[in-house]
Amino acid sequence: MAVAILLAAGKGERLGCDGAKAFVTLAGKPMLQWSLDALGAVDAVQRIVIAVPSGRLIPLPVAGPKLTTVVGGASRSASMRAALAATSEGDPVLVHDAARPLASAGLFERALDALRVEGCDAAIAATPVTDTVKRADEDGTVLETLDRSHLWAIQTPQAFRRAALERALEVDEGTLAAATDDAWLVERAGGTVRVVAGEPENLKVTTPLDLRVAEQMLSRRT
Ligand code: CTP
Ligand code: MG
Repeated sequence: MAVAILLAAGKGERLGCDGAKAFVTLAGKPMLQWSLDALGAVDAVQRIVIAVPSGRLIPLPVAGPKLTTVVGGASRSASMRAALAATSEGDPVLVHDAARPLASAGLFERALDALRVEGCDAAIAATPVTDTVKRADEDGTVLETLDRSHLWAIQTPQAFRRAALERALEVDEGTLAAATDDAWLVERAGGTVRVVAGEPENLKVTTPLDLRVAEQMLSRRT
């Protein structure tokens, strides 16, 4: 039985909202509801744990899976740890950012399927990098141009073997706070992480421009 963790406890500082980005209305419903609806359509997902900012422990509707809400932490990974601790069972663990409201049920299913490969600890959605990527020093002087044929832009969802994720999260607060991506914690713990073809439209809502683009794309779905 799979458990899904929906991370929705961020403040949305770059969006400039009132302190809870995942609750901003987007094409007619709160941003996190788009992810809940997609997760609700995934048969393997029996339970969803949502990490929310304090004061937002409101009931949210979802068809199918059982829903638990927990208060998140100061960093994304701390919210992850709080959500994982709220469920003693559920393997694999599917992690998704509420800031990616365009992820489809099919993408969640593909991440779970990819995790079935022998020896795989994590399967993460990603798209090939299409821009040329250079590394520069602090003055802006280019040091090198990277070979983009092996570069991937990482998204959520990310699916984990529960034991691998729990082991990866046994780190100090500083390391936890530095992690922008849970798969990195699995990598540094020696786990095997695979990329799964993500969806180009699965954008992350970070800035007001992202919100406008997401609004346009989701309006076409309703
Ligand atoms: N997140 C979380 N708990 C935190 C910080 C972030 O659950 N303490 C979640 C966010 O809700 C979001 C995802 O992690 O779904 C990715 O974070 P990000 O896009 O950075 O969102 P915010 O932290 O809300 O935005 P900002 O950094 O601009 O404040
Ligand atoms: Mg953030």
